[in-house]
Amino acid sequence: MLEIVKNNLKTLISKNLNYDNIIIEEPKKGYADLAIPLFNISKNLNKDINSLYNDLNTLLTKNKYVTNVEFLNGFLNIFLDRFEYSLLVFKNIKNSYKQINIKNPQTIVIDYSSPNIAKHFSIGHLRSTIIGNSLKKIYSFLGYKVIGINHLGDWGTQFGKMIVAYNHWGNPSILESNDVISQLQNLYVRFHEESKNDLNLETEAREVFLALEKGDKVYHKLWELFKEKSLEEFLQMYKTLNVEFDYFTGESFFNDKMDKVLDDINSKGLSKIDDGALIVDLGENIAPALLKKSDGATLYLTRDLTALLYRYNTYHFNKILYVVGNEQKFHFEQLKLLSKKIGYDFDLEHINFGLVLIDGKKMSTRQGGFAKLDDIIKYTISAVENQMLEKNPNISNVTEIASTIGIGAIIFNDLKNERILDIDFDLENMLKFEGQTGPYIQYTSVRISSILKNYDLNDLTIDFELYMDDLYFELIKVISRYD
Ligand code: ARG
Repeated sequence: MLEIVKNNLKTLISKNLNYDNIIIEEPKKGYADLAIPLFNISKNLNKDINSLYNDLNTLLTKNKYVTNVEFLNGFLNIFLDRFEYSLLVFKNIKNSYKQINIKNPQTIVIDYSSPNIAKHFSIGHLRSTIIGNSLKKIYSFLGYKVIGINHLGDWGTQFGKMIVAYNHWGNPSILESNDVISQLQNLYVRFHEESKNDLNLETEAREVFLALEKGDKVYHKLWELFKEKSLEEFLQMYKTLNVEFDYFTGESFFNDKMDKVLDDINSKGLSKIDDGALIVDLGENIAPALLKKSDGATLYLTRDLTALLYRYNTYHFNKILYVVGNEQKFHFEQLKLLSKKIGYDFDLEHINFGLVLIDGKKMSTRQGGFAKLDDIIKYTISAVENQMLEKNPNISNVTEIASTIGIGAIIFNDLKNERILDIDFDLENMLKFEGQTGPYIQYTSVRISSILKNYDLNDLTIDFELYMDDLYFELIKVISRYD
């Protein structure tokens, strides 16, 4: 709504001076509400800056949105009429915060969460889930057609290792246990320990993965079980967090689609064989993209490139976002350059983010005796529950409310800081009922809702005197900056 006023003033000045190039700024540091740099205008119109200022002063102070103007350091500073501006905001607010419907909506693909099967859902995947889901809501609200994709990590050489470990040291009963993922993770750790002394294990794992890529039935069956059991845990987590996806097309989905992509690249003469491996040069400043190892196995990047082209051909997106931690920066740089090299100019963005820290150290789920992220969430919820019962022992549906508050606290703690910074997972601070916390925001929101329930906004007499106050007027301005 500030735009309305800016345009109004711009037109007024342009007409008066017969000059179009008027710039109206919003000064960052609270001195005036708006400011117009006068140097260029004075130069281009060949008019003395002081007399220019005097003319504009007379002109602008006649406008109802302006109370007064001041001249400082070459700028004409404008102070808005707080009453008129607040009135404008209140008049428009009812209509302008509705869902935006656009005639030809743009399509955006958001790739988020994307955990790895046979491993626990990590705290980093939680961040991706929270940030990705928020972006999904924001873009939907803005009228985009949003496609949410979970690019499950369910393919790659590590599954050769998993299968070898399972065949050596596992047995079918572990797939029936109530914590299959921990069992599989243990097998994976054991593989790495044993392979320090037994070099054959690595070779065996490579061969198994190659056989898996070629469709070996026995290995495939086993892999399917790993996946099914892992998904059970992941889906439980998504249910708790109330997060949904349009597609669960993980890396394995692209297994039979990579050859075609590699053939195309090859026929365009873009790839070459280097030391037996298939690579694409990406220019001087970055390492070449490795798309096939010398033993013929494909890579994470090969699958991401195939997925990118598949998504483009299937959903015709205008924009694609990958919500993945800082540590994969290089991977997405390569992916973007690679797609450019084969002739596409995608609007592709890596939505990176920082680590989750506990006591200043990178958090791993093993810390604090938690084996699983799910346990941390449950613990958070029960901490809220205790706090609530302490304050009010007779409260009803305490578990349901505690869950809303606990999960809200985790989400808010993630989103309140700048995305690329590391965040602290400090339960005590996160759960405080005052300050910058989820519980406080929810509390405020409940209070506001109950006020709104009790009043009819249509025939409310608003005490605009309130908005003369700096703090409240600042709030009005913040609100009015949203579309
Ligand atoms: N599974 C990957 C990991 O945990 C994240 C995948 C992100 N998405 C993608 N298209 N690469 O590191």
